[in-house]
Amino acid sequence: MKKRISFFLISSLIVFNFSCYYDQEIDLSQPLPDIPVDQPISFSSDIAPIFSKTGKDCTACHNGNVANPDLRAGNAYTNIIALIVAGDAEGSEFYQRLPGNGHPLDVGFVMDNADIALIKAWIDRGAENN
Ligand code: HEC
Repeated sequence: MKKRISFFLISSLIVFNFSCYYDQEIDLSQPLPDIPVDQPISFSSDIAPIFSKTGKDCTACHNGNVANPDLRAGNAYTNIIALIVAGDAEGSEFYQRLPGNGHPLDVGFVMDNADIALIKAWIDRGAENN
């Protein structure tokens, strides 16, 4: 009986540990910088360019050739809006899957926190195509 109880305790500890590990994987490594409320954010001039940044280029893969959102300027908005709940970045699949915040595969880099913060603020403010 005692053995069973300790087996149960040890198994639950292992499961508990793994769930923490998973949480850490999707947590951002550092707190996001604040984007001042009066700072305007434009999709075409602030957000879209993030996706083709030198050295952290999403469009190397997200280029319309594979079954993942085409993030090239001009196509990006139409392709990501389906993954976005306007006004709720945390609840948006697009936000939850950014490199650095739970991207489905390791792409060899994480996004800059400043860029993640900008995307988050843009979604939280209604994800306009502006
Ligand atoms: C090395 C190639 C590669 C790079 C670079 C890359 N991605 Fe991805 N991304 C993928 C692939 C492949 C998938 C689809 C994986 C799957 O669904 O199993 C994906 C999925 C995603 C998804 C989830 C889409 C969905 O339908 O839920 C998002 C969001 C995303 N990527 C954003 C980005 C952003 C933003 C960048 C750049 C900062 C980026 N990715 C860079 C290959 C890449």
